[in-house]
Amino acid sequence: MSDNAYVRLPGLVDVHVHLRTPGGEHKEDVRSGTAAALAGGFTTVLAMPNTLPPLVTLTDLRSACRRADAEALCDVHYFAGASAEHTDELQSLGRKAVGLKIYMDQTYGPLRVGGLLTLLRCFQRWPREKPIAVHAEGESLAAAIGLAAAFDRPLHLCHVSRATEIALIAQAKQRGLPVTCEVTPHHLFLTKGDLGRLGPLGDMRPTLGSQADVAALWAHLDSTVDCIATDHAPHTLAEKQGAEPPPGVPGLETALPLMLTAVDDGRLTLERLVALMATNPRRIFGLQEQPETWIEVEVGPTWELSNDGLRTRCGWTPFAGFAVKGRVHRVQLRGQIVFQKGDIGPLGSIHRSSKGPL
Ligand code: DOR
Ligand code: ZN
Ligand code: ZN
Repeated sequence: MSDNAYVRLPGLVDVHVHLRTPGGEHKEDVRSGTAAALAGGFTTVLAMPNTLPPLVTLTDLRSACRRADAEALCDVHYFAGASAEHTDELQSLGRKAVGLKIYMDQTYGPLRVGGLLTLLRCFQRWPREKPIAVHAEGESLAAAIGLAAAFDRPLHLCHVSRATEIALIAQAKQRGLPVTCEVTPHHLFLTKGDLGRLGPLGDMRPTLGSQADVAALWAHLDSTVDCIATDHAPHTLAEKQGAEPPPGVPGLETALPLMLTAVDDGRLTLERLVALMATNPRRIFGLQEQPETWIEVEVGPTWELSNDGLRTRCGWTPFAGFAVKGRVHRVQLRGQIVFQKGDIGPLGSIHRSSKGPL
């Protein structure tokens, strides 16, 4: 790539974001999280239901969607959460949510689903045309694929992180099973070898893998992997450095620079990046195109990721100090410039003619 070139790409879609609304607004809220999304080149985010309260009832899901409608700077769609107590609401939740999230393993929040009966109900009752997404590690991932096969219905596997898991997904896809998967930048660019340096700032679920795990994820990026998703999971620095650090790292503002750096290094093509971060996510979750929407990225000069100037309320990144190539220059959403040279809208408040080289 030549220095200071501007490239126009479609608005990116992040299918795995924790906006912390309701109940965790000291970590993030819809406004700060979607500002971070725009600064990272994402014009659509899919938000997770492990909030307080968790989004397991139609009432709570509706109220989260209403807040997002009022406060969001980009498009937000919510997942409903699966829970043993609310399986009778699955059909109505299915009309409102973008997908059903099932936590098959323990992570942040109370939403773990145990027991085959609840899982069967989820797979029987959730509308076929909307994906079921799972947090499923190791044997749980194998169980989830078994359910997708038995019910012959779309299943999306979140944040795949291990060589064994991506190999199993490749096998399932070869057999024609209706599974898709996502990989996060932190599982592509960090290993458990970074934990000494990062301490609790490198703790998330799934945990960081080995060099061999990371190599396997990269090896499958052109084939088995369908999406890059951030699993943007902000917690405050005080919480992360406290006695019981919650798992999770933010990622909305660092994902695209990291992936563009990989393009610059020849590890994937720009076309593949667009498939992983825009086209495939839209197809898998049945999201309509956003008209007159694009992002403009500056590729070329090297710069350093830093905690300074982040839009996410948590104000830190595990990638501080990483040298990257590529950053978001402008974002247009439905005909309005909503981000330019570091400035976020109010939608349409930045005048095109006053700034920027293009
Ligand atoms: O590390 C994680 N943090 N993994 C998850 O699955 C949940 C997330 C969170 O909500 O903080
Ligand atoms: Zn998860
Ligand atoms: Zn998550």
